[in-house]
Amino acid sequence: MRSQVRFIRRGKAVELSGAEARMTLLDWLRLRDAAVGTKEGCAEGDCGACTVILARSKNGRVVHEPVNACILLAGQADGAEVLTVEDLTPAGAELHPVQDAMLRLHGSQCGFCTPGIVMSLAAMHRESPRPVSRQAVCNQLAGNLCRCTGYRPIIEAALQACSAPQPEVPASRVAALTTLQDGAPIFAGDDAAFFAAPRTEAELADLLARYPDALIVAGSTDAGLWLTKALIEAPRVIWLARVEGLDRIERTSNAISIGATATLADAARELGALAPDLAEIIRRFGSTQVRASATVGGNIANASPIGDLAPCLIALGASLELGVGGSTRTLQLEDFFIAYKKQDRRPGEIVRRIAVQVPDATTRFRAYKITKRMDEDISAVLGAFAFHMDGRRIASARVAFGGMAGIPARARATEHALANIDLDTPATWPPALDCLAAEFKPLSDHRASAEYRILVARNLLHKALLEIAGAPLSSTRIVSQMEAAHAGE
Ligand SMILES: Cc1cc2nc3c(=O)[nH]c(=O)nc-3n(C[C@H](O)[C@H](O)[C@H](O)COP(=O)(O)OP(=O)(O)OC[C@H]3O[C@@H](n4cnc5c(N)ncnc54)[C@H](O)[C@@H]3O)c2cc1C
Ligand code: FES
Ligand code: FES
Repeated sequence: MRSQVRFIRRGKAVELSGAEARMTLLDWLRLRDAAVGTKEGCAEGDCGACTVILARSKNGRVVHEPVNACILLAGQADGAEVLTVEDLTPAGAELHPVQDAMLRLHGSQCGFCTPGIVMSLAAMHRESPRPVSRQAVCNQLAGNLCRCTGYRPIIEAALQACSAPQPEVPASRVAALTTLQDGAPIFAGDDAAFFAAPRTEAELADLLARYPDALIVAGSTDAGLWLTKALIEAPRVIWLARVEGLDRIERTSNAISIGATATLADAARELGALAPDLAEIIRRFGSTQVRASATVGGNIANASPIGDLAPCLIALGASLELGVGGSTRTLQLEDFFIAYKKQDRRPGEIVRRIAVQVPDATTRFRAYKITKRMDEDISAVLGAFAFHMDGRRIASARVAFGGMAGIPARARATEHALANIDLDTPATWPPALDCLAAEFKPLSDHRASAEYRILVARNLLHKALLEIAGAPLSSTRIVSQMEAAHAGE
């Protein structure tokens, strides 16, 4: 058992005790480490001004991930090297290639957002396969706002800098990071206030039983905002990410099972392989920084009515494993969501795994996320549709929506109305389309009015029917590359 959190900073091991481990990483960097190059803008994971890199040893190699330090707890840096903008150009050295290109191509003006942009691009410079495409740069920058220079020179700088070969990670850094992986559980603090990171499910079960009021944290991309915006007190924190096996992703020929603490970044490939539209939903999920921290289990457990994964996975018929250690139970994902902020989760249980069947050859899946901005925005409505076809007839359907109720919800009456519809006879579609208005009573809020949500949901179902009936995607989509992804269906 360790009583400190440990990470590497500027070549040295840093040890943090309870209170410091529960600060945000940004506060620790600025207030304790005097690393003021990293800025605070929004303090909610949106603007990217606080972007730093966590370098970790993962599966035998060092991976550099950009994260939002404003919503990450300092304890979550355990086992990593924390790199900030100050570390890119040690005193007297040449500028980092990203900084050099940003300078030459006029990618920077105000200097407030620039450190975060440079850190996002420095992570890309390290990690991205060459050649780096314009679309890849835009994806990488989705979580970095700049409102002065415009993105053109920044994108040009990224393309130039990332055309250079990737530097090797020095053996001494690899060795230092490997040394940090000691496999010990962490309990930093005392009974009243602590940051704990168990290593086994048995240790986790024990902590949950002893401290039922502790805040469970996985990636902290939801929970972090409760600390920085709602200003909640969370003296006891249990971090799930070090529990062995809880992040494992398993695939068989007909199913995938995703451990709750697998991040969106790590699960993107397997989940995206289920259906092209799911890959696109994940591409638009938060930003590179958010996906590096956010977990699949956190997205489900938080049970936001506008969370993106739940409607897609409900439509795909996913099941959820709850519990911890030897004591687990399984239920259909839609049954987990009872009412707004009320889930079927018993004391001492966590969301453990999510299992999804790979869609068979007769299944047609579509999912559409409606937001005010294309990238890094939360859904106003998300519609997910899985039609099981018998030739040109819909034999059965599973339909689920986000943003239409207080929970991610299955549209059972609409599913019933879709059964036996003939795709070649559009005159038979309206009863199913009209069903949605009777089935849902959405709220009006700052994202969308109730009337807009009803209309959009109806239009999304219509779009799914049109596309699955064979309408070219160029007639239904703005994003033309989806055409290639769906080719051959
Ligand atoms: C800038 C930004 C953009 C975002 N964009 C999107 C988006 O596009 N789509 C979207 O759906 N969401 C989005 N989110 C929300 C958030 O990123 C996701 O909901 C994410 O998946 C939460 O996972 P996490 O691991 O960070 O959860 P945490 O914040 O660590 O936890 C969230 C809640 O779930 C609980 N919890 C976590 N894991 C478990 C578990 N295994 N068992 C039981 N309880 C658990 C925690 O106690 C907490 O109550 C965004 C957030 C930010 C800050
Ligand atoms: S300060 Fe805006 S994302 Fe962290
Ligand atoms: S460099 Fe700060 S807003 Fe653009």
